[in-house]
Formats: sequence, C-alpha cells, structure tokens
Amino acid sequence: MSKLELIGLTKTYGQKIVIEDLSLKVENGEFFVILGPSGEGKSTLLKIVAGIEKPTRGSVIIDGKDVTELPPDKRNIAMVFQSFALYPNMTVKQNIEFPLKMRHLSKQAIEAKVKEALRLFEIEDLASSSVTKISGGQKQRVALARATVRDPSLFLLDEPLSNLDARTRFAARGELKRIQQTLEQTFVYVTHDQKEAASLANRVGVLHKGKFEQVGTFDELAQTPITKWVGEFVGEFPMSFLPGSFVGLDNNVEIGFNPYWVTEGDPGIECLVESVEAIGNDLYLFCSVNKGDKVIIKARAKAQVGEKTSFRLDRYLVFKDGVLISKI
Ligand SMILES: Nc1ncnc2c1ncn2[C@@H]1O[C@H](COP(=O)(O)OP(=O)(O)OP(=O)(O)O)[C@@H](O)[C@H]1O
Ligand SMILES: [Mg+2]
Repeated sequence: MSKLELIGLTKTYGQKIVIEDLSLKVENGEFFVILGPSGEGKSTLLKIVAGIEKPTRGSVIIDGKDVTELPPDKRNIAMVFQSFALYPNMTVKQNIEFPLKMRHLSKQAIEAKVKEALRLFEIEDLASSSVTKISGGQKQRVALARATVRDPSLFLLDEPLSNLDARTRFAARGELKRIQQTLEQTFVYVTHDQKEAASLANRVGVLHKGKFEQVGTFDELAQTPITKWVGEFVGEFPMSFLPGSFVGLDNNVEIGFNPYWVTEGDPGIECLVESVEAIGNDLYLFCSVNKGDKVIIKARAKAQVGEKTSFRLDRYLVFKDGVLISKI
C-alpha cells in the first residue's frame, strides 16, 4: 500500500486550470520532491494533499484511506510552510508542546515527547528561549520539531528552507535528510531549488502545466529528460540544444546535451565564447553557434570572452517536437 496516492487530481480557479488530471504514488519512507518554476501549482498541489484546498476533481488517498472530503486536522499530516509560523509569544519548548496540549495528552507523555524532539533536533539548549530571539535555521528546527511530536503519518513541506541564508540552508538541508531517515517518515517536499532536489529527493516530480512532466531520480531527470522542457529546467545548467544538422541529422530534430558531454577542441562545432563561469575547479563557456544558438560547454582550458573555440559531442539526446526520441 502506498503512503500517498493522488488519482486524477484537477484544480481550477475560475477559468484557470492549475492542476490537470494529475496522478502520483509516493511510497512509505520516501522523500518525494515536487520541483517546478514559480506559479506552476506546487503549493496548490501540496495544499490539496493537506486538505487546505479542495480539488475540483480527483482523490487523495493516505494510507489506503480516501481523505478527499476530510478537513486537514483529520488527515494526520504535518505541514511546514516557508514562513514557519511559530507562536511569537512562546518559548521554543512551549511551541513544541502546544499541539500535544491541544490533544490533552498527560503531562508525562508531553514531557517525554518534547524532550525527544528537542534532542533529535539538537535544540535542548534553546528550550527556554523566546522564538523571536533565535536564528532562521533554529526556527526551522523548532517548526519541524513541533510538526514531529504529533507523530504524523505524512510530512508536507513547502519551501521550508527558502528564508535561510546560503550557509544555513546547506546545513539545514543535510539535517532535514538525516531527520527524515531517522524518523523513517514519508516527506513530500516542494521546492524550485535544483540543489535541494538533487540532495534530498529519492524521486523528483517536475511540475509543468498542471502535470508531472517527468518523475524519476534527480539524475534520471538531468541525464535523460524525456522532454526539451525538462532538459532546460532540470540540472545545474540547462541542457543546450542545436538543430539536428550539426550532427548530420535532419533539421526537424534537435540534439540536446549537457556541458560535460562535450570535448573541447578541433575539429568540431565552432562557437564564439560570450561569457565564462568558474564553478569550483571547472570552467564553463557560454557560447553562441552560428551567431544564434546558445550552448554551454565545459572548458578544457582557460578561455577568453570573444575567442573562438570548437567542441565535439561525446554523447547527446535527440528530440522531435520537444520530445525525446533517442539517446546517442
Ligand atoms: N486562491 C487562488 N485563487 C486564484 N488563483 C490562485 C489561487 N491560488 C493560486 N492561484 C494561482 O494558481 C497558480 C499556481 O499557484 P501556486 O501558488 O500553487 O504556485 P507555486 O508553484 O507554488 O509558485 P511559487 O514557486 O511562486 O510558490 C498561480 O498562477 C496562482 O496565481
Ligand atoms: Mg508556492
């Protein structure tokens, strides 16, 4: 039995279709990431799973039970949003125990659960601090701790790290993964951040035009996008595309390639270096081919803007009408 099953979900606002006939199964213990650009319906989809929004059509099944008609508090889910929404006039500990007090658990049971959560999230020292006086990363841990004490069946997280600075974000990401693995819980996590998707997800679903355009591991999506759109969206760099004629194919197809599928040097496809970007020890050249087509290639050696260079393709994908038709 899947932990979460979405069947034929559609959500419209007036004339606008935000989610269209979307289906998905998320397995027990899985870290599933919903990835997509702004405005593609990621939050809407998560809110439907949570019960905050009602689907226009379709069903939400959690632990084999149809919860489509149930309100959020009857679904046994924990939702953590981008703005952590902690109670500002309470301490860290009071925030965490609040949902348990609402459930009228015994004092001992509450103490034990809160202690465990404080330990798991390594915030014992902050227990009596006001939540207005802790850092963004610490707030996130408190929000997660508060979500966990209720023993939810499913965790739903909507860009929970997006308020954090780059360093804290990196640490918080690692911590989130550790916590998910320790708890052996199922997470559905919304982000538009490639790095988060790459490091956290067991599987990623790329949301586009109300549907998952592709579902798979991050590597599958980055290495073998089934559409040109996925190729351009997923990965540290967008995939580059050229007309088929560059490799002797007909011009009705396009070839797509990642920067590191290329060997720079003659003889090859000529291009003009328009900008250079260094990432770690690697150099990437942003070039134009035939004055028009833009490509990104990993450089062999230092290159200057305005120089000409050439590259060969070690491998590439062939797309017709924006859809993958073969791998070469
Ligand atoms: N209550 C609403 N009424 C009307 N339209 C809405 C409503 N909520 C969302 N939308 C529209 O639905 C679309 C999807 O919104 P949603 O918030 O789900 O996107 P998102 O993928 O989460 O974007 P972001 O990455 O910016 O958070 C948007 O075009 C938005 O304007
Ligand atoms: Mg959103």
